[in-house]
Amino acid sequence: MLEVRTLSKSFGGLKAISDLSFEVKQGEFLGIIGPNGAGKTTVMNLITGYMAPSSGDIRFEGRSLVGLAPYQISHRGVGRTFQVVRPFAEMTVEDNVMTGALFSGSRASSLAKARKAAALPMELVGLTHKRHMHAGALTLGEKKKLELARAMATEPRLLLLDEVMGGVTRGDVDDLMLVLQRIHRAGVTIVMIEHLVEVIVALSARVVVLNFGCKLHEGTPQEVIEHPEVIESYLGRPLETDAA
Ligand SMILES: Nc1ncnc2c1ncn2[C@@H]1O[C@H](COP(=O)(O)OP(=O)(O)O)[C@@H](O)[C@H]1O
Ligand SMILES: [Mg+2]
Repeated sequence: MLEVRTLSKSFGGLKAISDLSFEVKQGEFLGIIGPNGAGKTTVMNLITGYMAPSSGDIRFEGRSLVGLAPYQISHRGVGRTFQVVRPFAEMTVEDNVMTGALFSGSRASSLAKARKAAALPMELVGLTHKRHMHAGALTLGEKKKLELARAMATEPRLLLLDEVMGGVTRGDVDDLMLVLQRIHRAGVTIVMIEHLVEVIVALSARVVVLNFGCKLHEGTPQEVIEHPEVIESYLGRPLETDAA
């Protein structure tokens, strides 16, 4: 479904991503882990068109995404969440989710249709009862759910998640894990960047480990966490603990 081919991205002299290749199959739940600064967010920004690659290709359902604008990539069926959540604070939860529907590939043609299209995503993340609240008044865990609902309202076939669990409470982590399982079971392919290894182990079938912009290892969650180089790359440099 998604093919990342010899992808590189430099920022001045810094090679944030070097010659990275990996694939995601339809229906998969892929985890991406790696220390802070490994290039995880950069990969996501490259896939979703927020940054242009220095070289390499990204193909989604057989067609290249390189050169397309973020909204065009969203229309192709790729949704995303952001590591730092940015809801429209003065707008209600429902209006926030409606913005996703209004910008979706099948673009809701009226506010009434967008309101209808927002109902299912809100239900999916468990925010229906808070739909008239201002998004700014939500807890961080709820804002993360809102972010997921807004992304789902764009009707993605592939959903990319950047540290959805960052900074939320233990109870929210359990909640969000259930929400992600629900989204996956609804047929959405998921690529999840996550610093909480236990979450990756519980949810993903396959894990890619990034270090200094390169693929260090790839395998089942169990293979990956037992891999000596993976352990070594984290020695003295623990997995990210903050939503930076
Ligand atoms: N817009 C940017 N300009 C310059 N350097 C950047 C930019 N974005 C990321 N970087 C650098 O690229 C590297 C990878 O960053 P990032 O992808 O955010 O890592 P991660 O998400 O794995 O923590 C880091 O060294 C970071 O400082
Ligand atoms: Mg990041």
